[in-house]
Amino acid sequence: MRELKPYLFIEINRKIAEKRARGEEVISFAIGDPDFPTPRPVIERLCHAAQDPANHKYPETAGLPELRQAIADWYKKRFSVCLDADKEVLPLIGSKDGIGHISLCFIDAGDIALVPNPAYPVYSISTMLAGGQAHHMPLTAENRFLPDLDAIPMEVIEKARLIWLNYPNNPTAATADLDYFNKVVAFAKKHSIAVCHDGPYSEIAFEGYSPPSFLQADGARDTGVEFHSLSKSYNMTGWRIGMAVGNAEMINALVKIKSNMDSGIPQAIQYAAIEALSGSQDCIAEQNAVYQRRRDLIIDMLSDIGLEAETPKASLYIWAKVPEGYSSLEFADDLLEQVNVVVIPGIGYGKYGEGYVRLSLTIPDAILVKGLSRLSGWHNSKHRLKTKK
Ligand SMILES: Cc1ncc(COP(=O)(O)O)c(C=O)c1O
Repeated sequence: MRELKPYLFIEINRKIAEKRARGEEVISFAIGDPDFPTPRPVIERLCHAAQDPANHKYPETAGLPELRQAIADWYKKRFSVCLDADKEVLPLIGSKDGIGHISLCFIDAGDIALVPNPAYPVYSISTMLAGGQAHHMPLTAENRFLPDLDAIPMEVIEKARLIWLNYPNNPTAATADLDYFNKVVAFAKKHSIAVCHDGPYSEIAFEGYSPPSFLQADGARDTGVEFHSLSKSYNMTGWRIGMAVGNAEMINALVKIKSNMDSGIPQAIQYAAIEALSGSQDCIAEQNAVYQRRRDLIIDMLSDIGLEAETPKASLYIWAKVPEGYSSLEFADDLLEQVNVVVIPGIGYGKYGEGYVRLSLTIPDAILVKGLSRLSGWHNSKHRLKTKK
C-alpha cells in the first residue's frame, strides 16, 4: 500500500471538484470518456434484458456463449481474425478488469513485465500488485512512440514474462502498423514472453485510417492476447464491458483467476454488448467525424499559440509539447490556476511523458470552443507580460 500512489485521475478530479465547489467554471480536457450517449438500440436491448428474471441471477465468469460468439463475429468482420468463441474469447468487466488481473496469472515475485512509458498506469501497477517489477520501455518522438525492442538489456529479457503494448496509444496517440506487430511477435517467440496488446481505441480513427489488431500479425495468437473494450467505440464506459481475445492458454488462465475474484458481467449488460457489436455500426463513423473536427480545432489553436503537437490518425487524444521553461506539471497547474482549464501532465503517465500534456477530444463542441479561447487568452496574457518585461 505504501508504494501504491493514488490513481492518476482521482487527484485530478479532486482538484476540479474543489474549484467547482468554489463556484468556478472548470473546462476539462482531461479524461477520455466519450461525451456521446450509448446508442439507443443498445439501451433498449439492455432495458428489455433487465426485465427478464433469467438475467437477475449470477452470471458465468466466462460470459454468455452468445456474447463470446458476437465478439468472435465482430473480430472476423472488422479484422478478418477468426477466433474460437469458447477458447479464445473472454468477456470482461471493462478491459481494465483483464488488464489488472492478467499479471496475477503470469507474474511472480522477481519477474519482470516490459511496460511502455508513458502509459496507461494499470500495466505497471498490476505488475507491482502481482509482486513483479516493471521495466520501462521509453516512448519518445525519436522512436515514433514505439518501444525499441533492441534496446532492452538481455538480463531484463531473461526475467521478462509479459510485454505490454497499446495502439492506438494512450497518451501519445501514436499508431503501430502490422510490420511492428510482426516484429513484436518474433521478439516474444524468441524469448518466450507473452504479449498483452491493449487496443480499446482501434475504432476511433480519422481520414479513412483503420488501425490493425495485434492478432492480425503472423502467429500473434501463439504468443499473446488483445484487450479490447466497448467503452470508447460505443460510449459504454459506464456499463463496464470489454474483452480479452487470443491465445487460449492465456485466456484460460485469466478465466481461472477471475472466477475466483468476481462473478462475471451482469447479463443484461452482456445482451447490450451483443447489440452494440452486431447491430448497426453507423455511430462509429458519425462520432469519428465529430472527433476529427474537434481534433482539427485543437491542433489549429495549439499551433496558433506556438505549442507543437502531431495531428493524430487515431485515438481520443492529442499529445502536445509544453512551452519551453515549463515542466508538464507546472504547465498543467498554470492553466488550471490562470484560466480554469484542465489538461493532464505527461509526467502522470511516467517519466518519459515529461515535456508533454494530454488533451482529450471528448468535450462537447461549445465547451471545447470556450476552452480553446481560454487557452488563447492564457497565451496572450503570458505574451503581454513578457513584452512588458
Ligand atoms: C489504454 C487504455 N486501456 C484500457 C482502458 C480501460 O478501458 P475500460 O473502460 O474497457 O476498462 C483505458 C481507459 O481509459 C485506456 O485508456
